[in-house]
Amino acid sequence: MSKKSTFIILAAGEGKRMKSKYSKVVQKIMGKPMILYIIDEIEKNFEDGKIVVVVGNKKEDVYKVLEGRNVKFAYQEKQLGTAHAVMCAMDYVSDDSKDVFVLYGDAPFIKADTLKRLSQKREEEAAALCLLTAIFENPYGYGRIIADENGNVIKIVEERDATEEQRKIREINPGFYCFEKHELVNVLSKIDNKNCQNEYYLTDAIEILNRSGKKVVKVTVEDNFEVMGINSRYELFVAEQELKLRINKEHLSRGVQIIDIYNTYIHPDVQIGKDTVIYPGTFILGKTSIGEDCVIGPQSYIVDSKIGNNCHIQFSVIENSEIKDNVKIGPYAHLRPNSLLEEGVKIGNFVEVKNSKLGKNTKSAHLTYIGDADIGENVNLGCGTIFVNYDGYKKHRTVVENNAFIGCNSNLIAPVKIGENAYIAAGSTITEDVPANALAIARERQTNKEGWVLRRKQMYESR
Ligand code: UD1
Ligand code: MG
Repeated sequence: MSKKSTFIILAAGEGKRMKSKYSKVVQKIMGKPMILYIIDEIEKNFEDGKIVVVVGNKKEDVYKVLEGRNVKFAYQEKQLGTAHAVMCAMDYVSDDSKDVFVLYGDAPFIKADTLKRLSQKREEEAAALCLLTAIFENPYGYGRIIADENGNVIKIVEERDATEEQRKIREINPGFYCFEKHELVNVLSKIDNKNCQNEYYLTDAIEILNRSGKKVVKVTVEDNFEVMGINSRYELFVAEQELKLRINKEHLSRGVQIIDIYNTYIHPDVQIGKDTVIYPGTFILGKTSIGEDCVIGPQSYIVDSKIGNNCHIQFSVIENSEIKDNVKIGPYAHLRPNSLLEEGVKIGNFVEVKNSKLGKNTKSAHLTYIGDADIGENVNLGCGTIFVNYDGYKKHRTVVENNAFIGCNSNLIAPVKIGENAYIAAGSTITEDVPANALAIARERQTNKEGWVLRRKQMYESR
């Protein structure tokens, strides 16, 4: 679609039922603030789309989650109704916009295809407005659609103004509108607040347009999930459960095996390759990507990380890290931010890695802390190796070169460098650099006291 569109997103309301000190539209669904769902969907699918967000209550929260995004903000000081909110945004609607969409910030799941259908239908029918409708089993609380036999919309009646008969109508207004720009400008000037709420209702636009001989048409949404509005913690829960299943089913359809789709939590922007298997109790969050043929979980927590092909990750936590192909992690490992594991690395039981790089095929199988280290290829870190990176004031780095062998229970006191092929004797506390090909032993020599046990026994027994 090349014609320009402006999207006005209403987000000034109070969101009372959420019982939160934060704005409703920044509440997270699967880790992502609600309002970002619509904004991402528009940005991905409308090249020329311009976005105006109407803010009012708790506007700082909205500014914060949209920081750096290409959106304009219109400020509605007092919430005088949905039409008033749109009026506040009109200064930001570009002159060359053809379609002006009005959307609600608390209805996050609308699809671009549906919005495009609104625009198409409006144009085909040369209508001033095309609005979305939905058929609800329980329409309580929503504006009801009054249409004529040709499907033209005559008006919308709000719940509180509806007659007994009208309340039985199951076709409702979920609040997605596509206006022709000039018609919107005209009609806004004619909406008043003479109703029991003393609010400017955007829905009054329909009757006004009809009276002046303009056409209002509708498109009915096929999937009601798209128009779900979120007002309370319970609705947030319902939305998250449904979205979780939809995301998981989408991965199944692309060749990812999820063992239990009810007990696997994958955020919407995660990518996973074919033939990867995901075991239950696993969280894959943020902007994570995972390659093909991996086995992930059970019980793993991966956030904002990049994982290659054929990796195995069990009962482990991985944050902001990069993992190349054929890496094995866990059980019970923790990769903290800014860790890089090259191909073939193994990180085993109770190993913690932070801000470190491990070269190809380097192995740390058990009980080790690797902090602020640059480790080469084929290094073996024995059980209980500690990278002593902190002196109480500052962090220091350790370098371990290719093929070095660090014996069990060693302390490497940073800053220190272990040269290529060097060996560290088990139980050493290394404070000085070790040259390539050397063996470093930094521990008390062993003394055997022959017969000591017998002499001690004799001493006690002869008292
Ligand atoms: C509105 C519709 C109703 C529809 C329902 C769907 C009107 C008059 N009625 O009713 O037909 O069935 O939505 O959910 O439009 N907002 C502002 N500023 C305001 C008022 C509202 O930004 O001054 C925002 C709110 O934050 C909210 C959205 O607009 O996101 C809808 O407002 P709300 O008060 O919830 O309208 P409803 O009474 O639910
Ligand atoms: Mg509402």
